Amino acid sequence: MFDHRSDQGPRLRGENGSQRRVGHVPIHVLEDTAEAAFDGCEATLHALFDRPESERCAEVDAILATAPEWLMQYHLSPQRRMVLSWADIPADATVLEVGAGCGAVTGLLCDRAGHVLANEKFATRGEVIARRYADRDNLTVLVGGLDTIMLTEPVDIVVCIGVWEYTGVFLAGDDEDRFVAPFERFLGLLRGLVRPGGRLLLAIENKLGVQYLAGAEEDHLHHGALAGVEGYPDYAGARTFWREEIRRQMDAAGFGDPTFHLPFPDYKMPELVLHEDALERLDVHAAELGGLIPWHRPRLPLINEALLTRALLDEGVMGSFANSFVVDVPA
Ligand SMILES: C[S@@+](CC[C@H](N)C(=O)[O-])C[C@H]1O[C@@H](n2cnc3c(N)ncnc32)[C@H](O)[C@@H]1O
Repeated sequence: MFDHRSDQGPRLRGENGSQRRVGHVPIHVLEDTAEAAFDGCEATLHALFDRPESERCAEVDAILATAPEWLMQYHLSPQRRMVLSWADIPADATVLEVGAGCGAVTGLLCDRAGHVLANEKFATRGEVIARRYADRDNLTVLVGGLDTIMLTEPVDIVVCIGVWEYTGVFLAGDDEDRFVAPFERFLGLLRGLVRPGGRLLLAIENKLGVQYLAGAEEDHLHHGALAGVEGYPDYAGARTFWREEIRRQMDAAGFGDPTFHLPFPDYKMPELVLHEDALERLDVHAAELGGLIPWHRPRLPLINEALLTRALLDEGVMGSFANSFVVDVPA
């Protein structure tokens, strides 16, 4: 198990997988996961983050300036950090980032927290994170599923950005009802990893998001704008929820009352993150907010999303129809 309070950061104790190091960053392999790629960008990112820091920055800038391709922007844009740049993360906090991907948000956490445990199911992605932040001395990479993480004591903050929605793919048991049970189990596992008095910061799409009402294809199915509302007829393990469903599930998992933050246009590439209560005081900003649209989703031209956003704001119901949520939940 990991003693994450040791002076040198997390320490391997007993039987807990193999360990090696990339620069300053230890990688603990908790289970043999497939070398497979999640989205196909991993090899490019490996090569990029193998380059010396001096060349790497110019290369990242060049990619961001010249590659309108969504996935590379998603992995590399500094805008990704905005999803949690507002969050209070104490300098002595230990943070566990579950499903850290290729580390788009991990750098922010390392800048703020005392120690970061970046967990990632795919070994290829864990390797990208370690190479990307090889100079950090407050980062440990844990390769393996969330269910393989064992800590000697729970962490202060668990961060989970864009992961819960894939639980029916990556955490489902063979004989399980994949539509409900794994999602509940996922939250139960998170609850066990955060100390009482700590918090969970979780970002996820809203299946009632204004983008879907306006005709954007569903994020995980890549078709069917309102497939989530229709109960995911082509369900293959990825899904999301609306606000009250999230609230109920957090409660059932033993968390406290969640506070919803609304990232505009969404949590993936936020330009603005608002506390839900701020919407009522938004008169001045309503016009700007209506103009923020997630540009990467193909869509049927059903309705002008900017005008629909304005209408939902004026009606005082935008909190239920935001494209995504960042949920801040006390443990
Ligand atoms: C959409 S990506 C988001 C990555 C990262 N959080 C970000 O915002 O860039 C989802 C990530 O979660 C990982 N993941 C999904 N289920 C997981 C699980 N049960 N345990 C650990 N990682 C998981 C996937 O491998 C993938 O890298």
